[in-house]
Amino acid sequence: MAELNKKISVTIDNITVEVEPGTTILQAARLVGGDVTPPAMCYYSKLEGSGGKCRTCLVEVAAGSTADPRPMPKLVASCRTTVMDGMVVKNITSERVMDARNGVVEFLLINHPLDCPICDQAGECHLQDLSYEHGTAGTRYQFARRTFTREDIGPYIQLHMTRCILCYRCVMVGEQVAEQRVHGVVDRGDHAAISTFISKAIDNDFSGNMIDVCPVGALTDRTFRFKNRVWFTKPMDAHRNCENPKCCGKVTLWMRGEEVYRVTARKDPWGEVQSYDGKPGWICNTCRFEKKKASDWTVEGLTTISRHSVIGANKYEEMVMPQETIQKVMGGLEPRKLMNIHSISDVNDPDITLSELPGPAHSVDFDRANSINNQIPENPGDAERHNKQMINKTQG
Ligand code: SF4
Ligand code: FES
Repeated sequence: MAELNKKISVTIDNITVEVEPGTTILQAARLVGGDVTPPAMCYYSKLEGSGGKCRTCLVEVAAGSTADPRPMPKLVASCRTTVMDGMVVKNITSERVMDARNGVVEFLLINHPLDCPICDQAGECHLQDLSYEHGTAGTRYQFARRTFTREDIGPYIQLHMTRCILCYRCVMVGEQVAEQRVHGVVDRGDHAAISTFISKAIDNDFSGNMIDVCPVGALTDRTFRFKNRVWFTKPMDAHRNCENPKCCGKVTLWMRGEEVYRVTARKDPWGEVQSYDGKPGWICNTCRFEKKKASDWTVEGLTTISRHSVIGANKYEEMVMPQETIQKVMGGLEPRKLMNIHSISDVNDPDITLSELPGPAHSVDFDRANSINNQIPENPGDAERHNKQMINKTQG
């Protein structure tokens, strides 16, 4: 019995860790952390049976085990391969792995559009990060790409199938978390698509978790779409006593000022929902979609987000004064005055609560407030003259 529980050692990129028998290479690499950990687009530790589909986590096994130190001839999916005692694994130290990962990213991007500038997932998209590290500027693919029309699946979720990489995570959430699977992958090969059967809406109280597990922007929150960019919002940890016993009630509020734009489950460093008392912290749709006021929550404080993430930018500064002066940055030029563009910017109108608009914000939403508050003329020519006057006034 003691033998069974004995820890085994595995070396990944020259770092040795001790793990329980049955641990996968990916889980062992996560214990090391940092760049040594292979990316995972389909594996999700909280979803049973996930992994083995995207091939982004491929690694080289340079030695199988102490008992049989022969290398494995092919690269293996680290999310599905369990470690053996004395195994030697290469991830970032292997040229073969880097080459294969570049190829996998090229495949994933065959049909995935590069529409990050207009995609709601931008800034927190795992494929975006992966493309940045492993993608190339061009593509060798010359054939027609798969395209789909956007589909509202249920009142809260929009499916943009063109962006889907068929990782199956959302299907597993439907099956294992929402306990009401009404969607899946229909058809095969180039025609494979995520769809609801007989156009049935996903209206289970835990369906919103599909948005959290989707590694790309294929499933987005209809109550947040186009309301803001994540890097402009401030993530705050918050909790409430949710009536639903399956909901953990612990969330991240994505705020701007006092306004709550979006509510999500809290994520761990691997982008998966955090666990509490050994259980995944899934949240219900009431918490996610209906509690959009700061007063609905007990706010705990700023969410800890990696400094390298675009979302963390400017939010966790230590008190270090920048060395450069504006004069230095401008090559010795001394600006007369800095213009406050916010005084004439429509989108900063404090009378508009963006998160409460029923759809994406549109110019008409601001026209009303402009004509009442700022008296900006509606005729475009007059507006230009008005703006010039404002700029002159600001420049003194
Ligand atoms: S919609 Fe998202 S979560 Fe579902 S299979 Fe596609 S990429 Fe994965
Ligand atoms: S994460 Fe291992 S194959 Fe997708």
